Amino acid sequence: MQLMPDIKNVMPVIRILFKAIKTGIQMNETENQYQQAKNKGFIQVIFMKILAILGSPRRKSCYSAISEIKRYFADNGCTDFKIIELAKMKLDLCKGCLVCIKKGEKYCPLRDKRDLIIDEIKHADGIILASPVYCFNVTAIMKNLIDRLGFMAHRPLFLNKHAMVIASCAGDGVKETNNYMKRALTMFGFNVVSDLELRTKLWPLDIKDGNRIYIDTVKAAGKLLRGIKKGKIIPPKLYQIITFNIFKKFSAVKKEFMPADHEYYKDKKIYHYDAKINVFKKILAGWITRNIS
Ligand SMILES: Cc1cc2nc3c(=O)[nH]c(=O)nc-3n(C[C@H](O)[C@H](O)[C@H](O)COP(=O)(O)O)c2cc1C
Repeated sequence: MQLMPDIKNVMPVIRILFKAIKTGIQMNETENQYQQAKNKGFIQVIFMKILAILGSPRRKSCYSAISEIKRYFADNGCTDFKIIELAKMKLDLCKGCLVCIKKGEKYCPLRDKRDLIIDEIKHADGIILASPVYCFNVTAIMKNLIDRLGFMAHRPLFLNKHAMVIASCAGDGVKETNNYMKRALTMFGFNVVSDLELRTKLWPLDIKDGNRIYIDTVKAAGKLLRGIKKGKIIPPKLYQIITFNIFKKFSAVKKEFMPADHEYYKDKKIYHYDAKINVFKKILAGWITRNIS
């Protein structure tokens, strides 16, 4: 019978306990410093949650920009900042079955982390999509995420949630890439208030380029922060109203093929939400819808 436990078995437990106590002390110190700064009025705490989704398979320019934005938000009292690295989520490729669009997103046959991402978006006040330019557009992992959320173009889940887009290139293509992400997010119901274009090189950047990227990043982060704080709802654009009208119309006349859309649109009036729409825009959108569908 062994009365004393073997030292080899005990050491890992002691190490874990020691680490936990040390981390606890460090956290308390940070918490104290934070509380003191807050009491002195240096920090105004903002209860705001930001989610950044990284579409690069590596931690380079897009990741650095996200990290800088995280620091900017922390300096402004917002510490709840989460980064999802799409490369680690290993989302399955969309199978193209259209079940999410026709029957409803909960019937998607793929069982992976899509709903976890949707849940994170749901709990965020602002989201950031960041993608390098790969052959003139977003990376495949970013495109696949957008495809997997494609049902939101029919039935937006997050109306007016504030968003920002970041594209990074080594030559050209940031505008098109950002415009693509902006378009998708807008159709999904987001309010895109900020965009950042990162122009990198295939070799190390000099100080001038680095400074320029830093200044652009901080400016774009400020736009997102102010956008969320103001919470302004922007009126829908003409094409958004037309898209709404078309989806509403077909969800009624083809309801047996589009049950999820039918359920969503049947009680909706002029737009997804009670928006103030200019009367001329409303008439023009109605006329265009009648003539194209
Ligand atoms: C497969 C591939 C395709 C690329 N295509 C382009 C392109 O079309 N235009 C461009 O300017 N840069 C292109 N690049 C360069 C990246 O956009 C650039 O290095 C970017 O800064 C990478 O972002 P990251 O550092 O966040 O990964 C490409 C890179 C790869 C790996």
